[in-house]
Amino acid sequence: MTENKRKILVTSALPYANGSIHIGHLVEYIQTDIWVRFQKMCGNDCLYVCADDAHGTPIMLRAEQEGITPEQLIARTLEEHRADFAGFNIEFDNYHSTHSAENRELSTWIYTRLRDNNYITQRSIEQLYDPVKEMFLPDRFIRGECPTCHAQDQYGDQCEVCNRTYSPTDLLNPVSAISGATPIKKESLHFFFDLPAFEPKLREWTRNTLQAEIANKLEEWFLAGLQQWDISRDKPYFGFEIPDAPGKYFYVWLDAPVGYFASLKNLCERRGLDLDSYIRHDSQAEMYHFIGKDIMYFHALFWPAMLEGCGLRKPDNIFIHGFLTVNGQKMSKSRGTFIKAATYLQHLHPEYLRYYYASKLGSGIDDIDLNLDDFIFRINSDLVGKIVNIASRCAGFISKRFDGKLSGQLADPELFARITSGANESLKQLYENREYSKAMRAIMAIADEVNQYIDEHKPWVIAKVEGREQELQAVCTMGLNCYRLLVLYLKPVLPELAKNSEQFLNIAPLVWQDADHALLDHTINTFKPLMTRVEQEKVDAMIADSKDNLQASADTPPAVQNTLLTETPIAPVISIEDFGKIDLRVARILKAEQVEGADKLLQLTLDLGGETRNVFAGIKSAYDPATLEGRLTVMVANLAPRKMRFGVSEGMVLAAGSGKGDIYILSPDNGAEPGMRIK
Ligand code: 2FM
Ligand code: ZN
Repeated sequence: MTENKRKILVTSALPYANGSIHIGHLVEYIQTDIWVRFQKMCGNDCLYVCADDAHGTPIMLRAEQEGITPEQLIARTLEEHRADFAGFNIEFDNYHSTHSAENRELSTWIYTRLRDNNYITQRSIEQLYDPVKEMFLPDRFIRGECPTCHAQDQYGDQCEVCNRTYSPTDLLNPVSAISGATPIKKESLHFFFDLPAFEPKLREWTRNTLQAEIANKLEEWFLAGLQQWDISRDKPYFGFEIPDAPGKYFYVWLDAPVGYFASLKNLCERRGLDLDSYIRHDSQAEMYHFIGKDIMYFHALFWPAMLEGCGLRKPDNIFIHGFLTVNGQKMSKSRGTFIKAATYLQHLHPEYLRYYYASKLGSGIDDIDLNLDDFIFRINSDLVGKIVNIASRCAGFISKRFDGKLSGQLADPELFARITSGANESLKQLYENREYSKAMRAIMAIADEVNQYIDEHKPWVIAKVEGREQELQAVCTMGLNCYRLLVLYLKPVLPELAKNSEQFLNIAPLVWQDADHALLDHTINTFKPLMTRVEQEKVDAMIADSKDNLQASADTPPAVQNTLLTETPIAPVISIEDFGKIDLRVARILKAEQVEGADKLLQLTLDLGGETRNVFAGIKSAYDPATLEGRLTVMVANLAPRKMRFGVSEGMVLAAGSGKGDIYILSPDNGAEPGMRIK
């Protein structure tokens, strides 16, 4: 089979190095990891590389706010991301960083080739500049009035009310989201990549390579006309300086996709592989990028044009998926459905989510929904009820009655043949085409058939009848052989279940080829439970903890802004009427207590001048509760009560902090009394 061995390079999008991995990200990594594991099981030579996307203004500003260097921030995030991915059994061949020597070298090389091939032009443009912060402002860091519908507090690139896109200089009454200053217009020299020059080649590549659904979308963009792409940013910027252009940096999206090759280069150097054989224009290796539909423009236009322009190979396909919704809605911090990878792992097994996503994913770009009730039902019914149940119904008899030995023949060779030759090829096609939900359905249909076989042959009845030992051994051997095949078919999705099953069955790691034979005259190990049911309480606790994160930081406003910086650089401007809606009161802390099981919270009993309130505040790291009792502070008295895992919080205490973990609750001057209103 060696002659048919494919050489494949696979990537997933590079996550930004200033935020946590969450279950929305995981759709893509799980989708890709399943595909890569499948290819490897088929004996193909497949490499899966990824990296942190470490450059750009948000990362620079985030580090500054935390009082650390960008290098420290990205090093910390890299470690977190690697741990999160490992926790979900995402098995990269290499997980690197775009802030690496390899990426600097490759990005510089690609840029230089593009420049020498006359695809780079320079011209001065006028942009908004923050005179206080002394930097040009990215679109998302400018807020102002929409020039069309006059909605207030819109981003610098698009109005969220009327959806119109515009240039930030068109925004009325702009404000810098970093310093609050009014930006001024300032000229500076920028470098542009000549995207329109590639239109004919891109059109041809699109038609020959991408799925029709995607190609049609691109056609709209071609019709709208391609524009020169601004690939430079002025200092201060965290990135790579452009050769011979001091103070000018590559825009983060220029070096981000090059990060795929940089990660590969780093891997090749460590494993002694030939990088060129993957990236040169006549490469025989296949290359696929898995991405979300939001970054299609970068991967289907800019990136292939850059590759074409510098004489490197282009992708063989781009596999695009949709977004994740939870219970039919966008992930939400207030609903507790913005679930971080690390929070999920504190409560639930990673393979539950891997299976659930697989059971939902197809090859299209439709969004997928994680319905939490369906999640519990599907795992318990499919994995525990159908798959693992087969092993637990058969293994005990083999261990106890036959010393772990399987019989020498299959009791129902037709059933076995149907599962091997029948299912094998079609499942292979489904995995290859990323039709995982169809594959999962087909596998569960096989499991139903096997369970039916066991129900009909009733090993628990035969076991009670003397003289039917041989039959008992044969039926259980049949059941376990079917189980082995089911595990093999599920192995790309459930590698941990497969590993534990291989240990129990006492076999070498399963590969696809193993589907062609049975396990006979073979001694297995003692069966241990392979998967437990999902418990509703654990799902509830995960949701509560995801709300908890927000509550803890919502009681320390600056920290919220830090964690959300890339989404909302500064809170929207509000009117005096809006401010008047907030009822701020002086409160006395009557009692301050630890909350069992909460990392960040203290429970405060507050006197509002006659009325008492129960408030959970995220200040545990900074205060010994005993020192708080008797103190005056300031609270939001008319905040809607919020149900938390530990009880209902009836307000919010105000506190300041730099974002580095220090927290200072606010106190009024001497003379203030509980209940006084703050204006
Ligand atoms: O959208 C994002 O999250 C980007 N960090 C993805 C980059 S993918 C690749 F091009 F680097
Ligand atoms: Zn508008």
